[in-house]
Amino acid sequence: MQEKTVDMDTIVSLSKRRGFVFPGSEIYGGFGSFWDYGPLGVEMKRNVKDAWWRAVVHRRDDVVGLDAAIIMHPAVWKASGHVDGFIEALVECKVCHQRFRQDQLEGGTCPSCQGLLTEPRWFNTMFRTFVGPIQDDASVAYLRPETAQGIFANFRNVQIATRRKLPFGIAQIGKAFRNEITPGNFLFRQREFEQMEIEYFVRPGTDDEWHQRWIRDRFEWYVSHGVKRENLRLRPHESDELAHYAKGCADIEYRFPFGWAEIEGIANRTDFDLRRHSTASGQDLTMFDEQSGEHILPYVIEPSAGVDRAFLVFLIDAYDEEPDKEGTRVVLRLHPRIAPIQVAVLPLSRNAKLVPTAREVWGQLREHFVTSYDDAQSIGRRYRRQDEVGTPLCVTVDFQTVEEDRAVTIRDRDTMDQVRVPIAELVPALRERLFD
Ligand code: GAP
Repeated sequence: MQEKTVDMDTIVSLSKRRGFVFPGSEIYGGFGSFWDYGPLGVEMKRNVKDAWWRAVVHRRDDVVGLDAAIIMHPAVWKASGHVDGFIEALVECKVCHQRFRQDQLEGGTCPSCQGLLTEPRWFNTMFRTFVGPIQDDASVAYLRPETAQGIFANFRNVQIATRRKLPFGIAQIGKAFRNEITPGNFLFRQREFEQMEIEYFVRPGTDDEWHQRWIRDRFEWYVSHGVKRENLRLRPHESDELAHYAKGCADIEYRFPFGWAEIEGIANRTDFDLRRHSTASGQDLTMFDEQSGEHILPYVIEPSAGVDRAFLVFLIDAYDEEPDKEGTRVVLRLHPRIAPIQVAVLPLSRNAKLVPTAREVWGQLREHFVTSYDDAQSIGRRYRRQDEVGTPLCVTVDFQTVEEDRAVTIRDRDTMDQVRVPIAELVPALRERLFD
């Protein structure tokens, strides 16, 4: 097993220095573990979401997309069990006043100072707000703690509009909010985060088989986007840790610098949610099953991933350092579909002979790839800067380009090999190296 070489502080500081992720509200001293994605972070986060959407919607014929509102009728959260069941026990140290989730403590004393703890207080981790100008109990609404319920509430609309038959799935990406007692570990546990969820509706009786298929598919998605297999593992839930709605669940876990932890859960939610919403709303949410000739309530397999956790995994797993003549080369070995910049165009220098051609090449490539341009400092420095943010390919324009052959050099981030390619053949040459 390969040992992790990078610690969280290194990742947090690289993220800030290079514009991946900034502490939220930093000019006011930060605020409650909220984080903001910077110019490179927003590109990479979009890539994570696009790669997921491509895999689970565009490349399949049995899953369609949805984008539901964050704020839903409060009755949704009553029916789903969140109003009564989405609660955590909070304990506070009587000496240092730090707060902890009781279920995350190993002993009965404060893990920081060994002080005595208060009795547990229960509180619901859904954020509450008010809809309309009057702030009273009748206008209370919640920021969704999971995107899943937007899918269940639209199950019938989607099924009728798309005339789907079982099995079929609905996928959604969006913000979720939880008033976590102990947010932390950078992007890992936040109070505002993003989820990528699929509710995959199946005929009861086929649910176990579909559960296993989704577990396999989702695990391989991380591997196929560059995460090292040895840093991933599957952990089936024990029966006493299953969520209130689940018959079975397996977590995909990653070996973070702080230990193994969940990045995605794949649950068998049975017909729990559709049944509860059907009863609470009075609407018939069954569908006609041609095979049995009956109206049935489908079972649901739910692969539920965190965008921010996936982002963090890609960042950590890609991080590498190797000795070079200037000391250390930091490289993010990001998959080309995840890397925030795909190609950087670098003139050998700012010489007036080179710049127009370099800019012309940059203009051409921008139509096809996410491309940046950098002409500040030495070429060696600029390669290092691109390596540090994971740019897979650099294109260098030199004097030979403008004086002799209208060809440029493609330099590979991982091997540092350089090949010369005519400008006229550059786009297919880059595409082949990035995506084939
Ligand atoms: N609909 C099922 C559901 O929400 P979950 O295990 O509570 O299940 C699913 O959340 C995923 O959402 C997790 O595997 C994780 O990736 C992400 N997630 C949950 N809470 C989070 C938090 N506080 N900060 C960042 N990501 C979180």
